[in-house]
Amino acid sequence: MTSPARTAWLERRQRLLASMTLEEKIGQLVMADAGRAVTGPGGVTDVASDIGRGRVGSVFNQWGVEELRALQELAVGGSRLGIPLFFGLDVLHGYRIIGPIPLAEACSFDPATWEHTARAAAEEAAGEGIDLTFAPMLDIARDPRWGRIAESPGEDPHVARCFARAKVRGFQGQRLDSPSSVAATAKHFVGYGAVTAGRDYASADMSERTLHEVHLPPFQAAVEAGAAAIMPGFNDLAGTPLTAHGDLLTGLLRDRWAFDGVVISDYGAIAELINHGVADTLAEAAALALTAGVDVDMASEAYRSGLPDALAAGLVGMAEIDRSVLRVLDLKWRLGLMDAPFLRIDAKAQAGGRERTVDVMRDSARRSIVLLKNEDGVLPLPQTIRRVALVGPLADAPLDMLGPWWAAAPVDGIVSVLEGLRAALPGVEVIHVAGSAMEGDECGGASQALEAARASDAVVLCIGEPKTWSGEAASRTEIALPRGQQTLCDTLFQSGKPVTTVIFSGRPLAIPDIIARSAAVLAAWFPGAQAGHALADILTGRDEPTGRLAITWPRSVGQIPIFYAQRPSGRPFRPGEHYTSRYIDSPNDPLFPFAHGLSYTTFSRSAPRADRTSLGAEGVVSVEIDVTNTGQRRGEDVLFLYMRRRSSRIAQPVKELIDFTRVSLDPGQSANVRFCLDPTRIPSLCPVRDECDGPDRVEIWIRGHGSSEADESSIVLSLTPA
Ligand code: GLC
Repeated sequence: MTSPARTAWLERRQRLLASMTLEEKIGQLVMADAGRAVTGPGGVTDVASDIGRGRVGSVFNQWGVEELRALQELAVGGSRLGIPLFFGLDVLHGYRIIGPIPLAEACSFDPATWEHTARAAAEEAAGEGIDLTFAPMLDIARDPRWGRIAESPGEDPHVARCFARAKVRGFQGQRLDSPSSVAATAKHFVGYGAVTAGRDYASADMSERTLHEVHLPPFQAAVEAGAAAIMPGFNDLAGTPLTAHGDLLTGLLRDRWAFDGVVISDYGAIAELINHGVADTLAEAAALALTAGVDVDMASEAYRSGLPDALAAGLVGMAEIDRSVLRVLDLKWRLGLMDAPFLRIDAKAQAGGRERTVDVMRDSARRSIVLLKNEDGVLPLPQTIRRVALVGPLADAPLDMLGPWWAAAPVDGIVSVLEGLRAALPGVEVIHVAGSAMEGDECGGASQALEAARASDAVVLCIGEPKTWSGEAASRTEIALPRGQQTLCDTLFQSGKPVTTVIFSGRPLAIPDIIARSAAVLAAWFPGAQAGHALADILTGRDEPTGRLAITWPRSVGQIPIFYAQRPSGRPFRPGEHYTSRYIDSPNDPLFPFAHGLSYTTFSRSAPRADRTSLGAEGVVSVEIDVTNTGQRRGEDVLFLYMRRRSSRIAQPVKELIDFTRVSLDPGQSANVRFCLDPTRIPSLCPVRDECDGPDRVEIWIRGHGSSEADESSIVLSLTPA
């Protein structure tokens, strides 16, 4: 049933379309780079003049109320038809107040936090006129050589599905035409995280099965959650560039998933179809993209210069152009811009918004930190310490705490580890020694760092990647430390003191020797503007470490791609046996597995129990477990529900995550935790899989803090056709 407002809009947009010239129609399909931030190779055009001539429909990489007001006034007051612009920006993990990078956030395994940080970022960005964010990035990533793993929700499809839903809800809120909501763009559709050899922008090639089981689920979740836009990846998929992939952009996205939003190309990607070798001219590139289903051309000349020629040559029809123009106009209407072009620009910041955002980002950063190792309870730092040696180039590196991208964030007001630790330990002397440069070989301060360590009660070493070694166009063939930092560590460990190592990075780092020689290790990723306070909260024990790895942590780059949901081998590894699946120079297992993470307390768990022995026609099966905090401190356990499909004609992953939850317990407290297994929510059991691979039973088990693979307390449920 169409609402009266919708009916009136449909009539209005038809009249508008009928009044538009070809240049004005194509103008609506052009997203111009305003160039205040650099996120791609393209030069910046004369945006203001193009807007006034109706040659631009949207602008990105500009922010600030007055800057956006000036551009909107050009569009509304200066162009013939006065169609408002929409403004896009990469609001990935914050706008002005930056939170932890998405890979870090995924480690919190906390959908409520994922939604809260997106909501906070949306209110900040919309409050200054931004209408659309190019987020959430939903690329499944299993190759830490790829710099953009930092932007991803990690290796697991179920985590990414939950992340997608939470982020779309957070960004878009209850209503897209609210002045505190921004449109979400699910990107980069699809398979970009599987680029060859982890090299950015390279080709990706995978089976249909892997595409449907691993890489598509988070995008389907985003579409089901109502994501307003989709952005195809730069990559080709088995030879077809996503920007020209009609089967996926139209056949799957629109015809099967009923996506009714806008498809926005990635930066210059339509013109880059020529580099892919699938088009010889801009006209051919424009025709391929428009026909495949790309509505908006970000930062290339393809649509503006190529579409008129493509139309004249009969490569596209006016109907295809009109279809995309109407989608763009629909988005502007849904955003409230057609009736209120200055809706967000005139929005007033909500009282107390900044303080709330700071708290949300600090909480998220704290929950994203993963305690990888803690020998002899070195952490939390004892209350008795009087002097701490804080060593390493990342100890006082505020801007590097933000990671590779920080949107509109100011470069001041970022809390470094040094600032956070000193604030948390007012009566303690914190001796800070950088010890080495951030990158390169320089490590002139190593001996000074060693002296500081010898003279202190505790040693905290802050090492890792500079922000520029992570993110887009930052793939690495080695995932180790810069040489100067490695030398600093070698020197520092001569102190004989137990060292707490904090790793800052946009990816797992293969530094097994440093981890082995550290007494405690925290993966802090890039925690954002509240880094110092979040780290201090965990180091001092004010808060418990609750993060768990959303990405497998390899021993070496040679193990990549390494992830937990591998299919079994016909010759599984058996110690001491020659003809088994193994390396001759390394163990098979990672340094730390997916879902690994320690707490300051311990937990025990009962064997899982199910209220039925079959899953399917009877509907939901309840699986429950009792958890007890057996330690001396309050703590949170994260419980992971895994499944393995048995007796299928297709080799199944050794385990697949199908649900997770967290439980907070005081010392000695127990709780009953229940999972509801709905067969329709488990893609592996849905009819989408070809019938021949239908398993006839599934094995279910639950893992938590301290679980070991040897823990065999599983349940087998027979499958009855739904
Ligand atoms: C970049 C990125 C994309 C981003 C876009 C706009 O090239 O690939 O993720 O949203 O350009 O900045």
